[in-house]
Amino acid sequence: MRVAMIGTGYVGLVSGACFSEFGTDVICVDKDETKIARLEDGIMPIYEPGLDVLVENNVKAGRLKFTTDLKVGVKDADAVFIAVGTPTRRGDGHADLSYVYAAAEEIAEAMDGFTVIVTKSTVPVGTGREVERIIRAKRPDAEFAVVSNPEFLREGSAIGDFMRPDRVVIGTTDERARDVMRDIYRPLYLIETPIVFTSRETSEMIKYAANTFLAAKITFINEIADLCEKVGADVHDVARGIGLDGRIGKKFLHPGPGYGGSCFPKDTLALVRTAQEHGSPLRIIETVVDVNAKRKKAMADRIISACGGSVAGKTIGILGLAFKPNTDDMRDAPSLDIIPALIKAGATVRAFDPEAMEEAQKLLGDIVYCDGAFETIEGADAMVVLTEWNEFRGMDLDRIKSTLKHPIVVDLRNVYEPGEMAEQGFSYTCVGRAS
Ligand code: UGA
Repeated sequence: MRVAMIGTGYVGLVSGACFSEFGTDVICVDKDETKIARLEDGIMPIYEPGLDVLVENNVKAGRLKFTTDLKVGVKDADAVFIAVGTPTRRGDGHADLSYVYAAAEEIAEAMDGFTVIVTKSTVPVGTGREVERIIRAKRPDAEFAVVSNPEFLREGSAIGDFMRPDRVVIGTTDERARDVMRDIYRPLYLIETPIVFTSRETSEMIKYAANTFLAAKITFINEIADLCEKVGADVHDVARGIGLDGRIGKKFLHPGPGYGGSCFPKDTLALVRTAQEHGSPLRIIETVVDVNAKRKKAMADRIISACGGSVAGKTIGILGLAFKPNTDDMRDAPSLDIIPALIKAGATVRAFDPEAMEEAQKLLGDIVYCDGAFETIEGADAMVVLTEWNEFRGMDLDRIKSTLKHPIVVDLRNVYEPGEMAEQGFSYTCVGRAS
């Protein structure tokens, strides 16, 4: 079995490395020569725990290769996965499919013998059909099938999610394609992973329904958290109390500054647009998008009010910039809304993130970048936790207090215990818990 993976972004690189770990021969294709050269030297383009070792081992074993030449990659492949980017299109909120369609054109020219073309990128319903049309137009006699196989991995725990997924979704009605897909995922049958075979359109829809549902779940608990503050309830106990009901489930009920990242913001928006165009609006998700955008902005006000109503002339030490821990990804991170708002209000911002400093500097520009957590809060008027990296959870509270100018802590990820913070004499603000 030979697999070609087009695109070495998050999904493409992790999927390619994991398929090779399953024992399949994989060739990862990317147009970016520098990226491919660096990958060949074992340098990862992203920070993802465990990825470097996985790539190194499989390259050594001869199962994982890299190339910039799509033709070479596709020619001998039994299955070609399209894992290129589908960013939000400027102006209308739709997913930009130009990279997907360009890949389809090139694959059509290069494929040889029966080939399964798989869309791994998150693509709107109907994209598989269009990919098929593009390929058919170029190669009327070719034998191929276009399959949808969305990916559900999370950044930061991508390898575990890929190797031990809750389920695999495969959208095709073509029997030969099913056999190829079954072969590729054979190791997951051994660990009894549920495999959902369905139509292509349904599979494409499942991916959007999953991501928008999770975004709604987070937004729900965020609003409940705000109400908890008003009525004197504790959102962690509420989340546990409802989450133990199997119909609700415990996960994705952690309140915070609003969801970010490369997927939820983009996918919620894209599904809203698709639904509107079909005259079947998703009003819940429209509200989720709106509430989440406003929430990120409102977090700056929360910090300002914790600082006594003004941050003008004050120094704020920010811990965490990435949209979540264990990644260097800054896409749609709450820090991108919060920090400019604090600067606009007259604050000086010092910041530190264990992995995202390089990305952050490109997007945030002129703030003070520090080398560690304590350096960041040295002499600051307040400390703000924006991303729940483990190293921030374990910080010595006495030392935090003696390092800050004022003992003000705004914890937008609820990593500390309100009772303990009060006992230590902090003025402590968190999300949805009495503080
Ligand atoms: C998300 C989905 O979880 C994956 O299943 C999916 O494959 C992926 O999008 C994708 O479509 O590619 P990811 O964006 O990597 O994965 O990160 P999540 O762990 O889902 O977190 C997304 C955002 O929600 C983060 O900003 C996080 O801080 C926030 N979040 C998550 C909360 O505020 N509370 C929670 O309880 C969980």
